[in-house]
Amino acid sequence: MDMRSLLTLSVLLALIRGNKGQKPIVTLRPKFPQVYAGDDITLICNREGGSKPTTWFINETSSQTHQDYLMLLTAVTPDNNGVYECEQGGMKSDPFTLTVLDLEPHAQLSPSVGGAVMTKGEGRNLVLQTDDDDLENWICYVLRGVNTFAIGLDINKEMKRAVFFAEFKEAERATFWCKKNTTVLRSNAVTLKMTELMVMLVPPAVPALKGENLTLRCEVWGKPKLDKAVFYKNNKSLPKSSPEDTYTITNATQSDNGMYSCHATYRYTHISAKAAMKDGDADAQELKVIGGPPAAVISASANSLKCSCPDCPASCTSYHWYHTPFNDPFTREKRSENDESINVEKEGEYRCRRDCGNGFSRFSDIHNYTDQPVEFGHMWYILVPALILFVIIIVLIIVLKYRRCGRMGIQAPGRDADQDTLMSVRYVR
Ligand SMILES: *[C@@H]1O[C@H](CO)[C@@H](O)[C@H](O)[C@H]1NC(C)=O
Ligand SMILES: *[C@@H]1O[C@H](CO)[C@@H](O)[C@H](O)[C@H]1NC(C)=O
Ligand SMILES: *[C@@H]1O[C@H](CO)[C@@H](O)[C@H](O)[C@H]1NC(C)=O
Ligand SMILES: *[C@@H]1O[C@H](CO)[C@@H](O)[C@H](O)[C@H]1NC(C)=O
Ligand SMILES: *[C@@H]1O[C@H](CO)[C@@H](O)[C@H](O)[C@H]1NC(C)=O
Ligand SMILES: *[C@@H]1O[C@H](CO)[C@@H](O)[C@H](O)[C@H]1NC(C)=O
Repeated sequence: MDMRSLLTLSVLLALIRGNKGQKPIVTLRPKFPQVYAGDDITLICNREGGSKPTTWFINETSSQTHQDYLMLLTAVTPDNNGVYECEQGGMKSDPFTLTVLDLEPHAQLSPSVGGAVMTKGEGRNLVLQTDDDDLENWICYVLRGVNTFAIGLDINKEMKRAVFFAEFKEAERATFWCKKNTTVLRSNAVTLKMTELMVMLVPPAVPALKGENLTLRCEVWGKPKLDKAVFYKNNKSLPKSSPEDTYTITNATQSDNGMYSCHATYRYTHISAKAAMKDGDADAQELKVIGGPPAAVISASANSLKCSCPDCPASCTSYHWYHTPFNDPFTREKRSENDESINVEKEGEYRCRRDCGNGFSRFSDIHNYTDQPVEFGHMWYILVPALILFVIIIVLIIVLKYRRCGRMGIQAPGRDADQDTLMSVRYVR
């Protein structure tokens, strides 16, 4: 075969290949620069767009549970790390390596009120807090289905936070997150789920962490009077709880994972006193408890606070400290120190976390620092010895006076003087 026929052959082969279509590609949505523990992510297997019969391979084993071209992974952890491949129409994608960091991202995004489920047409304010003041450089996004849209931010410079209104439009679930322009710094993601039913089972909007107490609420649209609510886990009814509309899981573990729903009986008594009794079921919602990244811990002695993180990886180097005044619970000021220990003067709530390069440890619990008790403590240390010293001096004076008076033989006036001194001592005490 000469050169020319070789060339023709390869062109022909390429044409045949082209006709059969290209290899599918695995893409990650949201388009996160880094995936952190607790994120909800979707892997998309796409050849030419649209849904097609798909086979997924995880660590080279074909997956029985994922057969759609979208693979939704909720509350991911490093256990989800692995090599993901997909196959459509006999064509296999290149491998996609998923790496979940067991850390938290830089910024925090959270709903101002409410949990993870809303009725169709509803919306909710999400609040963004970052460590630096340059909120103008942050952009927020929403993923609805497979499409991403940018969202405008309302910046409150004074309170060092930004707010935007989160809504579904036509989607059934929407994931919101924010990113600092031209950097890899981002916030956690908040996923909101839509329901078309009157009754809603509402889990928290943030990932459920092991060891936490979790509250599931049974809510009814329009907030009527709730006569009765029954909670279900995997279709089995749960023991009655109090208050009626909430079910609390104390010290959550992986054994609490499951699909939760509720059945509510209610009356719109605020519309009409004779409103009819109604009842309904909620959509089931997934609860997934994850171990969560290692957490920082504050220990305190007097006005010195120390931050530690026993389970943090070695990549964690510096420390971040945060202060919130008691009278201003919405502001959060990052302190300039990056040290393990700090001395505090200002009253308020203190939290710390460790900076681990490509992410952070979890925040410590809040440490309340109050001035008074410590100040009073110090005062007593000074006051008590001072008082004792004072009494000793008085007693010494009396004794000395007695001796002198005795020697001089002038007793009556001396006694009067002593009485005066004694009285003044009593007065002081
Ligand atoms: C894939 O294999 C890695 C290494 O053996 C393992 O750590 C990981 O958990 C596996 N991933 C899944 C999703 O099973
Ligand atoms: C983000 O950065 C790009 C490139 O520097 C710039 O063109 C764009 O205006 C920036 N957007 C915002 C919202 O700052
Ligand atoms: C969870 O609730 C239990 C019982 O009400 C309480 O003792 C415990 O301190 C709570 N734990 C946390 C982490 O709030
Ligand atoms: C609960 O019941 C519904 C309807 O009967 C069924 O579709 C669903 O799979 C059940 N869920 C579980 C977790 O068993
Ligand atoms: C929470 O559960 C773990 C194990 O399930 C147990 O070791 C721990 O003591 C429990 N904590 C509380 C506060 O009950
Ligand atoms: C800290 O103080 C605030 C405000 O006074 C209070 O609401 C909170 O419960 C306190 N937290 C702790 C852990 O003591």
